Amino acid sequence: MNKIESKEREQWGTRIGFILAAAGSAVGLGNIWRFPYMTGENGGSAFILIYLIFVIIICLSIMIAEFAIGRRSRLSAVGAYKSISPNWTFAGVLGVLSAFLIMGFYPVVGGWSLAYIFKSISGLLSSTAISDAFGDFIGNPIEPIIWMAIYLSFNLFIVAKGISEGIEKAGRILMPTLFILLFIIIGRSVTLPGSSAGMDFLLNPDFSKVTGQTFLAALGQAFFSLSLGMGCMMTYGSYLSSKENIPKNALLITMLDTVCAILAGLAIFPALFAFGLEPTEGPGLVFVVVPTIFSKMGSIGVILSIIFFIALTVAALTSSVSLLEVVVAYLIDEKKLARKIAVGISGGVMVITSMLSSLSMGILQDFHVLGLGVGFFDFFDILTDKIFLAIGGMLLAIFVGWNVNKEDLKDELTNGGEIDFPLFNLWYILMKWIIPIAIIIVASMGMVSMIKNGLLPLMLFGIGIIIASAIFSKKL
Ligand code: TRP
Repeated sequence: MNKIESKEREQWGTRIGFILAAAGSAVGLGNIWRFPYMTGENGGSAFILIYLIFVIIICLSIMIAEFAIGRRSRLSAVGAYKSISPNWTFAGVLGVLSAFLIMGFYPVVGGWSLAYIFKSISGLLSSTAISDAFGDFIGNPIEPIIWMAIYLSFNLFIVAKGISEGIEKAGRILMPTLFILLFIIIGRSVTLPGSSAGMDFLLNPDFSKVTGQTFLAALGQAFFSLSLGMGCMMTYGSYLSSKENIPKNALLITMLDTVCAILAGLAIFPALFAFGLEPTEGPGLVFVVVPTIFSKMGSIGVILSIIFFIALTVAALTSSVSLLEVVVAYLIDEKKLARKIAVGISGGVMVITSMLSSLSMGILQDFHVLGLGVGFFDFFDILTDKIFLAIGGMLLAIFVGWNVNKEDLKDELTNGGEIDFPLFNLWYILMKWIIPIAIIIVASMGMVSMIKNGLLPLMLFGIGIIIASAIFSKKL
């Protein structure tokens, strides 16, 4: 694995700019929309505990590896794998495919969030049926698609501007705003009478709720939340200056993301219990429960609700921008397209897939993609979250542990010996043995429960895609 000096490649302008952009990629709907409802559906703190263990022993190491491979090759996912070992090109191809798939539903939820900023202003909170309002809204064939398109166009605009002017600037302004907003909401939530039951739910593990499915759910959530398993952090690493300390930055970003997820839990569950609502609301949790909570607070509730959905939209935006960048960087690096053209082409595909996802909440509700038993939204979501990301992480671990020269890795992670990485050997053993084995175990347990839930066709389809890409992607 040769070290590539970056002369012409775009780079992050500043260290803090990189950290905010990478943390911005990590912190998103995964933390604020998905983490609370997954926690609610999987029994609270036992799920959080398993999640935290996976973050520490699997995901942190994977993030370090993604940054290292990206920076070493100075290429985005496909090129990075290909430049080291052409047989592994497919792992990068799967990453680009995953980016397309995630961008097939992410902008839909981003659009909901954007819409809820305005709905909070225009009287949503005074409605007596907030839950019905949400169902009606997402099932509408036109309105959510318009919001999705507006949301997606923000993404295209930012990514078309490039790395330091676009993505980095957006992260610098938007990420700190998000943290401040979350703290304001927590301050209100934890001081409500009766909020302590929510703290209990978050802090006292109930292991009777843990099943085989819980582990795959927690692992998929950890990969999703930290933007791992599909070359996203690899792409961001390819713009990283060779002076940066990779392990330290990865630790910081992992901590920021985890803190943010916990903060989102702290913002939602205490208030949820204080008002006697159910934690098992599902994907509607944020959009139903949060406005319900705020609706009981009078006019300050309206303001907090507006702030909350601005925060959610902002967090989502800095994440989806990174997903789009994975595809755009691939088209620039491998297909030699100009940035703006690459953005136009990928945006065009994403607007169509997201439209189908949005429609699958309403008029296409009963339509099953390729007869696999799920609608478009679930198809994109489950395929990535439950299959591609974890498998992508496993492939990366095997690749790094078995195909990349150990000395090269050490050289990259210590900046040629200039900085210390005392845990290098532990990290290496994790990559080579522990992470691949752990992911195989968790994935097998999860598969059993997916089969029980009737998802066997979808699972076989996903595995088929992986095999097909391994066979065909050498030509790419
Ligand atoms: N991590 C983001 C979130 O939590 C979503 C995301 C951005 C992502 N880039 C990714 C997920 C790459 C998986 C892979 O919302």
